[in-house]
Amino acid sequence: MELSEKTVGIVKATAPVVAQNAEAITSTMYNIMFTNHPEIKALFKDAEPDQHKKLAAAVGAYAANIDNLGVLDKAIEKIVNVHIRTKVQPEHYPIVGVSLLEAIKKVLGEAATPEVIDAWKEAYFFLADVLIAKEKIEYAKA
Ligand code: HEM
Repeated sequence: MELSEKTVGIVKATAPVVAQNAEAITSTMYNIMFTNHPEIKALFKDAEPDQHKKLAAAVGAYAANIDNLGVLDKAIEKIVNVHIRTKVQPEHYPIVGVSLLEAIKKVLGEAATPEVIDAWKEAYFFLADVLIAKEKIEYAKA
């Protein structure tokens, strides 16, 4: 599957405002996720206190390179390795996705129009599918 041109355009246009607010967005995302899904906390038991900064950096890099994803291969490989170590599963992705989109809405307020949210939703689940496919291969090897 390919991302639509419209989505690529919107994500690129909103990449700066998302990057400027990335740490607020990702810390809000973890608060929302841990409130609605306390069982997910166990996965993050060994995480550093700055985990939200790592996710923020990844979100920023993704948005900035949405039309040139090849440059993210190394970063994606690293994320996959960490996810395998912490036993992330496909069914966790919608939980993170919904929490992230809610956090974007909360932090960006009116700037997060339905069109912007739709584009980020498509972009998130596109990346999620890439990670899920790679993680599936690694789990099968183990
Ligand atoms: C597109 C979606 C996602 C992205 C871009 C992403 C990104 C990242 C990044 C950048 C790291 C840090 C890697 C490092 O330490 O170098 C990480 C670690 C981690 N992620 Fe994800 N992630 C995603 C989805 C998920 C999901 C769905 C879960 C499950 C709830 C999850 C759970 C974790 C855990 C448990 C860690 C390790 C924390 C630790 O112990 O250090 N991630 N992820």
